[in-house]
Amino acid sequence: MSSNALYYCLVVIAINYLSSDLLRIFAYSTLLFWIIFKNIRYYKSLPPGPWGVPFLGILPFMNKRPPHLVYLNMSKQYGDVFSIQMGSNLTVCLGSTKLMKEFFSRNDSTDRPNTPLNNLLEGFGIITSQGALWKRQRMFLHEKFRALGVKLWPNTRFEKSISMEIDELIAELQESDGVPVNPGYLFGRHIHNVICQLMMNYRFQADDKNFTMFNERVIRGMQLFGLVLFGEHVPAYLKLPGKMEVLNEIKRNLVDISKFHGDHVVERIKQRANSAHNKEPADLLDCYLDKLDEENSMDSNDKKNIFPDVDPVKQIVQVMNDLFSAGMDTSLTSLLWTCIMMLKNPEAAEKVRSELRKFVAVGEKVTMAHRLQMPYIEAVVLETMRVASIVPLGTTHVNSKDWKIGKYVVPAGTHIVPLINKMNMDPEIYPEPELFKPERFIKDEISYGPS
Ligand code: HEM
Repeated sequence: MSSNALYYCLVVIAINYLSSDLLRIFAYSTLLFWIIFKNIRYYKSLPPGPWGVPFLGILPFMNKRPPHLVYLNMSKQYGDVFSIQMGSNLTVCLGSTKLMKEFFSRNDSTDRPNTPLNNLLEGFGIITSQGALWKRQRMFLHEKFRALGVKLWPNTRFEKSISMEIDELIAELQESDGVPVNPGYLFGRHIHNVICQLMMNYRFQADDKNFTMFNERVIRGMQLFGLVLFGEHVPAYLKLPGKMEVLNEIKRNLVDISKFHGDHVVERIKQRANSAHNKEPADLLDCYLDKLDEENSMDSNDKKNIFPDVDPVKQIVQVMNDLFSAGMDTSLTSLLWTCIMMLKNPEAAEKVRSELRKFVAVGEKVTMAHRLQMPYIEAVVLETMRVASIVPLGTTHVNSKDWKIGKYVVPAGTHIVPLINKMNMDPEIYPEPELFKPERFIKDEISYGPS
C-alpha cells in the first residue's frame, strides 16, 4: 500500500471515532475537498499531456501503435516535455537536447523503472542497473573500451579485428558470384564477431550452432516481450491465463543466452588460475577479471568497487549479455539502413563512390587512416543514423528526487523517456529534417561527427 493510501485510511478510521454525526460530515467533506485540491495541484504541476482513463492512463488509446510514434505525435501537440500516465507509471517524455542534457547531468537521474520485465534482470549489467553500480560500469567500460582500441585512430587492435571480419565478408560476397544474398544474415555474424572479440576474444565460424542459437533466442525474446509488454504498466495483466508461461519462456531464453557467456567466464577463470596472467588484458573479460583480482586483494575500505554489493560473475555475464543485445542489432540495422539510403539516394551514392575512387586505390582496403580524407562518407553514416533513428527512444531512467522544469514539477519516481527521434528531426538543429542531406554534417570540408 502506498504511503498516501495508508495515510488516508488512518484519517478515515480517526473520523469514524468522532462523537457526533455533524462533526463526521464536516470532517469527511474537508477530507474530500483536501483530496480534490491536492490532486488538482498535483496534475497542474505536471508537464502538459493528454488525459487518460483511471488505472490504464493512455494505454487504451495506443491502438497497438509503436510507442515512439505515439510519443512523436504527442510532442507535436504538447511540445518538448509532456507527461502521460501509462497504467501505474507516470511517464515524462523529453524531446529537446537541452532537457535531455539537463536531466542526464543530474545526480538523481540514475534510477531505473521498478517494473516486472525490468526486474527479471535483477538489476545486474548496465542497461537495467542503477545508481552507483550503473555509473561505475559506464566509467569502467568507457575506460577499458578505449584501452582495447575502440577509438577512431588508425591501427588499433580493434581496427584489426574489424579488418579480419571485412576480409571474410568480402570473400563470402565474392563466393555468391552475383547471386543475390541477404546482407542481414551475412553482416550479422561479422558484427557479432567484432563484439565477441572485444568482449572475450571469441569468433563464431560460419554455420556455428551457437550463433544460430543466439539469433533464434533474440528473435523469440523480442516476440515474447511484445506479448507481455502491457504488464510493465499494469502488473495485474501478467496474472492472466497464459502470461505466466510467456514470462517463464523469457526467463529460459535469458538463461540460454547467459549460459553461453557464463561458460566463457568460468573457463577463463580456470585458465587464469593455471597460468601467470600478469600481461596486457586481451579483452574486456580480462579487464573485468583483473579488476576483480585487484579488488579481492585490497583492504575492503580502500575499494572503489565496481561490483558494489553484487555477485561479480553474474554482473560480468549480464554486462556481456547487454553489450551483445545493445550492440548487435543496432549496428546491423544501421548498416542495412546505410545500404537502403544508398539505393534511395543515387546522387549521394555516386559521391560516396567518387570519394572512394579519389582516396582508395583499386584493391586497397579502406582503413581508419582514410577517415579524415573522406568526410562525405562519414557524413553519410551520420545522416543515415539521424534519418533512420534506429533507436528512437533512449533507455528509460527514473528520477530519485523531484525535478523542476520551469513552472512544472516532475515528481520523484517518474519514468523519463528521451525522444531521440524527435531530437533527430528538430528543424532548428536540422533544417528540412525529412530530407537526406549528408552535407549538413560537413563544415569546411571536414565532417563534424565524432572526433
Ligand atoms: C550504430 C549502432 C548503435 C546505436 C545507434 C546505438 C544507440 C544507442 C542508444 C540510443 C542508446 C540509449 C542511450 C541511453 O538512453 O542511455 C544506447 C545504449 C547502449 N548501447 Fe548502443 N548503439 C549502437 C551500438 C552499440 C554497440 C556496438 C554497443 C556495444 C558493443 C552498444 C552498447 C550499448 C549499451 C551497453 C547501452 C546502455 C547504456 C546505458 O544504459 O548506460 N551500442 N545505444
